[in-house]
Amino acid sequence: MNRSQHIESKIRELIDHMSIDEKVGQLTLITSAEGQIPDSLREDIIAGRIGGILNETQREVIHELQRIATEESRLGIPLLVGRDVIHGFKTIFPIPLGQAATWNPTLIEQAARISAQEAASTGINWTFAPMMDIARDPRWGRIAESLGEDPYLTGVLAAAMIRGFQGTDLSAPDSIAACAKHFAGYGASESGRDYNTTNIPENELRNVYLPPFKAAVNAGVASVMTSFSDIDGVPATANEKLLRHILRDEWQYDGLVVSDWDAIYQLIEHGLCANSKEAAYEAANAGVDMEMFSQTYREHLPEWVAEGKLSMAQIDALVANVLRMKFRLGLFDQPYTRAEDFPPVANASFRQAAYQTALESIVLLKNENHVLPLSKTELPTLAVMGPLADDGYEQLGTWIFDGDTALSQTPLQALRAAMNGENSLRYARVMETTRQNTREGFAGAIQLAKQSEKILLFLGEESILSGEAHCRADIRLPGNQEELIHELAKLGKPLIVVIMAGRPLALQNVIDKIDALLMAWHPGTMAGTAIADLLLGNAAPSGKLPVTFPRVTGQIPIYYNQKNTGRPATPETYIHIDEIERGAPQVSLGNTSYHFDVHYTPLFPFGFGLSYTQFEYRHLQVNPSEIKLGESITIRANIRNTGEREAAEIVQLYVRDLVGNVTRPVKELKGFQKIRLQPGEQTTVTFNLSTDELAFYNRNMVRVTEPGDFHVWIGSSSATGLRGEFAIIP
Ligand code: NOJ
Repeated sequence: MNRSQHIESKIRELIDHMSIDEKVGQLTLITSAEGQIPDSLREDIIAGRIGGILNETQREVIHELQRIATEESRLGIPLLVGRDVIHGFKTIFPIPLGQAATWNPTLIEQAARISAQEAASTGINWTFAPMMDIARDPRWGRIAESLGEDPYLTGVLAAAMIRGFQGTDLSAPDSIAACAKHFAGYGASESGRDYNTTNIPENELRNVYLPPFKAAVNAGVASVMTSFSDIDGVPATANEKLLRHILRDEWQYDGLVVSDWDAIYQLIEHGLCANSKEAAYEAANAGVDMEMFSQTYREHLPEWVAEGKLSMAQIDALVANVLRMKFRLGLFDQPYTRAEDFPPVANASFRQAAYQTALESIVLLKNENHVLPLSKTELPTLAVMGPLADDGYEQLGTWIFDGDTALSQTPLQALRAAMNGENSLRYARVMETTRQNTREGFAGAIQLAKQSEKILLFLGEESILSGEAHCRADIRLPGNQEELIHELAKLGKPLIVVIMAGRPLALQNVIDKIDALLMAWHPGTMAGTAIADLLLGNAAPSGKLPVTFPRVTGQIPIYYNQKNTGRPATPETYIHIDEIERGAPQVSLGNTSYHFDVHYTPLFPFGFGLSYTQFEYRHLQVNPSEIKLGESITIRANIRNTGEREAAEIVQLYVRDLVGNVTRPVKELKGFQKIRLQPGEQTTVTFNLSTDELAFYNRNMVRVTEPGDFHVWIGSSSATGLRGEFAIIP
């Protein structure tokens, strides 16, 4: 018998011995009493009324909970112990959106591996990550937790995270189960308001929102979490089509499906169910195995079985999925965690990994006249200012339950350290928070700037402004930050801005006033050291945007892989309203697809990011130019570092399928490679693309690759590149 047959027979054997109450107990995931074990909890575990617990992090408490479950309950079934380990446990890595800006699956896998080791050292065996919701709306606070707007990039990076959390063997002491969330479509919440309704036509669902989940299933993800949102009238938590037809039947997924927090009970609030008994039925019938927080299953599933509306076989299938994950985690053999199996949390090598991830996550968006990098000798002549220059908490970002602020390296500390401890750096916080609406602090800032040669501002958003339920209707720099930029720009001195934020910001009002701009997201524990090294040129920026930056909030949603429409905007047809008022002919107004008070392009496109050097792309070759279904083509380009310093570049491959049974995006990312070149060095980057990778869901929801003509680009962003052509012939 192989391992999986062995597990299945163990599951069968256990289920045969379980009472209905013990079965629904396994389907129940409750929240902990955080460091306590009240009598009621102890009794519930002994009676087999609990399958898992979340939010307990104390090793001794977890140990005792597992002891009670395995030694004092009738069947001795161990507990799942879950926690949101989203971008680190003690050592905090960049927020997931920042990690995505590295375009570096190796680093992302390493970050998740370290997070798993730190979390597992306490007895946690399950994380609720990665989130792989496609996020096209930066108003949505949870974009911070996403891997951006692109299905391919999200899928590749989510799979890397899953490998990191789960390791090569899920039953190893330092592996934890990952969770692909939120299935599905949560990122499309209307207007970027969290928890809101989504309207996603099935074709778009299959072509845009589901591919990362399919990639997660292919990567062996141990669990999937349902979304809070309503999708086409049926909340995801009761959505049989998603949970049963697609996830189980089409994809053959055999892991665990968990609801989101209270989401089964909230089926009442959605107006899908009249009461918690109905809610339990809808979720169980749709295929949710485990209920997080609310307890409608425990209270009502036995009644449904007694009434004959749910069969015992249906309940057993849910229970089997829970038990399967426990067996795969090796919990029956080893429910306890031994501290000596783990390296110390936040050790030097973990912090070094966090540093490297932060370094590669930061994106250089503007650098007029090579203001950056700064030289070390300039440091005493700088005015370092802003609410985020020296805030060890805010740089960590959202979802850092267990993060340790005391470990944080702030930019101010790192810049001071670069001056060998000489404490002559000129610094002013200026604003208490990024949301401050008064001009208090401005006079001092202007004074300090006047005495300095260059201005270095740390602006953006505190961590509270992004994350779950933390959405914004206006995504400009909050508070008086725009005004601060305007005031300081009047001095005519080089103005360098580092933004930390959980989302793209709409920077149209300030971008012309800024000479150099680094987008640092929320970089985590090692923010300061990474930022200082980039500012000082000890390393060159290499991050690329995993999401489009709109010029103004009103452009949202704006994303690179849009449809062409019947009347696409072009440089020839675009005309700004102000030009018309100045008397320009009204030839095109209203004729193509754009807002006439803002350009039709974004401020910064997906895939964009500058370096301290330049890369020249030459000699695109596409071979052969015609292929048949089932074959592959090779696309190559020569890339040369024409600048003065060594740097890394993320080379991107895009494709356009010109004509389809359903309309196809104007560009789709199909591959990327991170290369590193010395000054003057060149290399040939090669991509292979099979016709299967060009498949999409057609109007009958069948996945097909259609013969026809394609454009292909190799470039340094979604907006540039060398273009070639090829065809698939029937
Ligand atoms: C609600 C969030 O939507 C989900 O992502 C998270 O894992 C759970 N709460 C548990 O904290």
